[in-house]
Amino acid sequence: MSDASELSPFDPDVPNPARMYDCFLGGSHNFAADRAAAGRVEENVPWVVAAVRANRFFLGRAVRFCLAEGVDQFLDLGSGIPTVGHVHEVAQRVSPRARVAYVDVEPVTVASAAALLDGDARTTITAADMRDPDAVFDAPGVRDLLDLSRPVALLTVSVLHYLSDEDDPVALVERYRRRLVPGSLHVLSHVTGDHDPDPMAAAERVYRGTATPLTFRPRRRIEEMLAGTELVEPGLVDASQWRPQDPADAQHRGFWAGVGRIGQYRRV
Ligand SMILES: C[S@@+](CC[C@H](N)C(=O)[O-])C[C@H]1O[C@@H](n2cnc3c(N)ncnc32)[C@H](O)[C@@H]1O
Repeated sequence: MSDASELSPFDPDVPNPARMYDCFLGGSHNFAADRAAAGRVEENVPWVVAAVRANRFFLGRAVRFCLAEGVDQFLDLGSGIPTVGHVHEVAQRVSPRARVAYVDVEPVTVASAAALLDGDARTTITAADMRDPDAVFDAPGVRDLLDLSRPVALLTVSVLHYLSDEDDPVALVERYRRRLVPGSLHVLSHVTGDHDPDPMAAAERVYRGTATPLTFRPRRRIEEMLAGTELVEPGLVDASQWRPQDPADAQHRGFWAGVGRIGQYRRV
């Protein structure tokens, strides 16, 4: 595992979006600067906690969908601080054989995941920047855990908005998908200001003062990130509306979410 602090320097006085997300979920892996910035986001977007929870519940439903489709290996990019309902807990409850390779760039996230996962042979955490797919696939925690001759669920849940347009997230996710065999799945969610442009623009300004600014994108741009996959029903929808367990609770929360089936790529 690389040293996460080399990839993303640790400074508790600079708010970090991973730790702010932990604040919204009621976690304890955060510092005063993170809580203050999270508070400023909540002043502008009073429903942010509901949005983050809706994203998290989408993640759980999507993981169970992958398992029901027979895909029991997960590559979780931007996995976040382990908290209730983390992917390996959801997956291994359904299928004890499920394997989960977590990847994150943030040092507190990586350290807390490593402590939590100590002794779990089927789950790893790798410190890596997802913008470097070769480093991700070559890392022992990914290479030695996932069998790439079998389908894999690629999870990019609430992470691609941390990448700028210059990082070209559309091309990046395609580079990952090309490494996966047909029958693999791509699970994606991404924040948007489509329905609430003013509050989201204010939140975007708060994130500009953090270690990793956010880019809120419209639906059209997010759809492009799943181009080339076959979208499963109900397509790209608000996270709360993706196969909701309680349709009464399915209302817009600010994350577009969807799952695409990965087919045959022409190998070069
Ligand atoms: C909002 S959290 C999402 C956690 C989880 N995927 C979920 O949806 O509940 C986003 C995570 O992406 C990580 N992240 C941001 N940029 C990254 C990058 N370039 N490479 C790897 N991880 C990154 C952050 O450190 C953070 O832990």
